[in-house]
Amino acid sequence: MVTSGTATRTWIAGAAALIAAFVIQSDVQAQQFASADDARDVTFSGEVADIIYQNCTVCHREGGIGPMNLTSYEDVRRYAQRIRYQVGNGLMPPYAYDRNIGIQELQEDWRLSLDEIQTVLDWVDQGAPLGDASAVPSVPAMPNPEEWSFTELFGSPDLVVPSVPIDVPADGNDMWHRPVVPSGLTVDRCIRAVQVKPGPGSATVVHHAIANLQTPREDGTVQRESRATEYAMGKLGEIMPEGVCRRIGANTEVLWDIHLFPGGLGATAPNAVLEDNTVELGLWLYPEDYEYEYEQELAYMGFEEGQTEMLIPPNSKVMTQGYDVFDHPIRIDSWQPHGHLRLRAASVEVFYPETSRTETISMISDWSATWHLSHIYEENVAPLIPAGAVIIQKNWYDNTADNPNNPDPDQWVNYGARTADEMGHGWFGITHLDEEGYQRLLAEREANDRPVSDD
Ligand code: HEC
Repeated sequence: MVTSGTATRTWIAGAAALIAAFVIQSDVQAQQFASADDARDVTFSGEVADIIYQNCTVCHREGGIGPMNLTSYEDVRRYAQRIRYQVGNGLMPPYAYDRNIGIQELQEDWRLSLDEIQTVLDWVDQGAPLGDASAVPSVPAMPNPEEWSFTELFGSPDLVVPSVPIDVPADGNDMWHRPVVPSGLTVDRCIRAVQVKPGPGSATVVHHAIANLQTPREDGTVQRESRATEYAMGKLGEIMPEGVCRRIGANTEVLWDIHLFPGGLGATAPNAVLEDNTVELGLWLYPEDYEYEYEQELAYMGFEEGQTEMLIPPNSKVMTQGYDVFDHPIRIDSWQPHGHLRLRAASVEVFYPETSRTETISMISDWSATWHLSHIYEENVAPLIPAGAVIIQKNWYDNTADNPNNPDPDQWVNYGARTADEMGHGWFGITHLDEEGYQRLLAEREANDRPVSDD
């Protein structure tokens, strides 16, 4: 793991505490919407087609990962009630992130606005009318998941690391593929942008793929580094914040973790044996003499002692927490919690010892292990954390029948890697600052936050 060398990193096991209940965001959301009586008239051609085509069709189309197509009025009307349920409960688009807590300015935020949600609900409640058939917009051009996102900005990737090809059968259970592939890098470099995408012909079988980085040691073991990034349909990749170096070392290897669907995904899956599937990691690198001020890393923050002792009794709800303190200022650039089927909610807080204030930065109250998304803060709001402040991640587990993802509330649940076991850590994008850089970034933000006046 790349650190500035001065970080003190101690996650301490928080005591597991029973909690009575925690708020599920979707229940709250459901109450925020008005009844159909006071709604304005909504049509497919007027408002709804745009909402669906801009936010849903990328996955719900030919070769997409969604179970059905949403590419015409007929499709959308046929699934209107299911769409009402999914959209009204904040389940689709699949981006669980609480609206009323913490930082709301996020990059690649898939959430619909409350106004768009209300529009979809009103439309379904009004009988899903078409409106003016001649005014229905056509489906916009969709990104090809097999193309690189940043070629216009940065040209082709400087380094492409493909996984080992694998054949996927026509039917059967989900498959996981975990080959190790050398990156071929001979010197340390700084990453400018990163993307993972399916290789040629593979988009219909790849559900998601994670590229983990590791370096082989002389004694034959490996040093796990960070992870590069993760592919899931709809994701474009990630550009690093300005002026920092996310380092990738010489001799780095990519440890792939690829989740494949036999027969293909979505409504129009080919249902045949698909040969030689690959996933590719593309890296755009800064020149070797790139000058930067600070190092950035995608840091694994766990609290091992607490996790490995984790034991969730049958039919119970449990909360755990871990914390981390740095002896230098940092900026948190992104956050991605990780857990399995009993994890229902997670939050990140910062405690400032000098003022005793605790601030919640982010919270997810309706977590699902199907979707692992990194929440990337817009650069002008990414939290600037002074030295000595305490970063706290809390995890809430629901091992009762209330949890719709729970396969069996009568089981004891242990720490472990299987989906039926539990985990609870976070991946944090962290820029390691010094006091001077921290003060400068703070001052720049204050200057930008001054009210704009025309006189
Ligand atoms: C990132 C890809 C993605 C996006 C974007 C997306 N979906 Fe989905 N959708 C899926 C997948 C995969 C499933 C099936 C698995 C699941 O339910 O999580 C699904 C399931 C659904 C279902 C449930 C189908 C059923 O069997 O009942 C509905 C309805 C739905 N999506 C509607 C939408 C709508 C409406 C939008 C946009 C507002 C949307 N989706 C955006 C991928 C996506």
